[in-house]
Amino acid sequence: MITVAVTGALGRMGSLIIENVGGAPDMELVAAFDIHDIGMPVGAGTGAGVAAGAGDVRVSDALLIDALLASTSPDVLIDFTIADAAVGNVRAAVDNGVAIVLGTTGLEPYQEEIAEIIAGNVPAVIAPNFSVGVNVFWKLLLEAAAYIGDWDIEIVEAHHRHKKDAPSGTAMRAADVISKVLGGKELVYGREGIAPRGDEIGIHAIRGGDIIGDHLVLFAGDGERIEIKHQAHSRQAFAGGAIRAARWVMDAPPGIHGMEEVLGL
Ligand SMILES: NC(=O)c1ccc[n+]([C@@H]2O[C@H](COP(=O)([O-])OP(=O)(O)OC[C@H]3O[C@@H](n4cnc5c(N)ncnc54)[C@H](O)[C@@H]3O)[C@@H](O)[C@H]2O)c1
Repeated sequence: MITVAVTGALGRMGSLIIENVGGAPDMELVAAFDIHDIGMPVGAGTGAGVAAGAGDVRVSDALLIDALLASTSPDVLIDFTIADAAVGNVRAAVDNGVAIVLGTTGLEPYQEEIAEIIAGNVPAVIAPNFSVGVNVFWKLLLEAAAYIGDWDIEIVEAHHRHKKDAPSGTAMRAADVISKVLGGKELVYGREGIAPRGDEIGIHAIRGGDIIGDHLVLFAGDGERIEIKHQAHSRQAFAGGAIRAARWVMDAPPGIHGMEEVLGL
């Protein structure tokens, strides 16, 4: 049995992860953390409703994460919170020898710190997008960039009105993947006023309604264009991938791994 702790337990992703853990015959939820509604049954947050199979686990105060990881000894911590919080949660997991699945995005300012904390201490899977489709999408971008990298490239992403960071981690990874193939590219975020196109990748973020997550990469040439697009229909695309990563990370060597390793891409 894989024992699991979840941070961001009352969030859209956290509550769905808890529901998935509850439905997995090989997993058991042993701790759940958030910063509000401490003591309430887990899963009763903004996401999937009261999580089935969450047992009698209640929401614990995230401030107590260190002590509670020590007393509940989970095998893996799954974190979908905010970047500021994720760093402390990663530290608590490492201090307690707990493997990590980290889905929180907007981690760019903390990337080095997180890498230093994890180092060779525990196995961790960190991915800005846990969906199988998006990981294949990144792979398709690699191939397209190798053939038509001299075309104009624009990335457009759309998410729900509550998403805090922009552009999305998935869009940034798409830019990174393409830029690496092309030996480095300037990134231009939105355009305004007089903004002639240079040798750049344009990145645009749309926020509205309940859009789960759309990513479009446009390769525009003279007289033709190719659009590579991924659309998430439900957050289960991410939750399912995170659960898969939690199983995989149990047998992984210490250090940071990507979802492409989990999926064998
Ligand atoms: N990697 C992926 O596949 C993927 C997919 C979807 C969302 N995300 C990312 O996951 C994160 C969460 O997304 P969401 O839509 O669930 O957001 P959300 O706002 O619905 O949930 C975040 C939860 O974290 C809680 N929280 C904040 N600080 C905390 C702390 N210190 N300890 C514990 N809990 C804390 C909040 O109270 C909230 O309940 C975001 O960064 C989002 O971009 C990643």
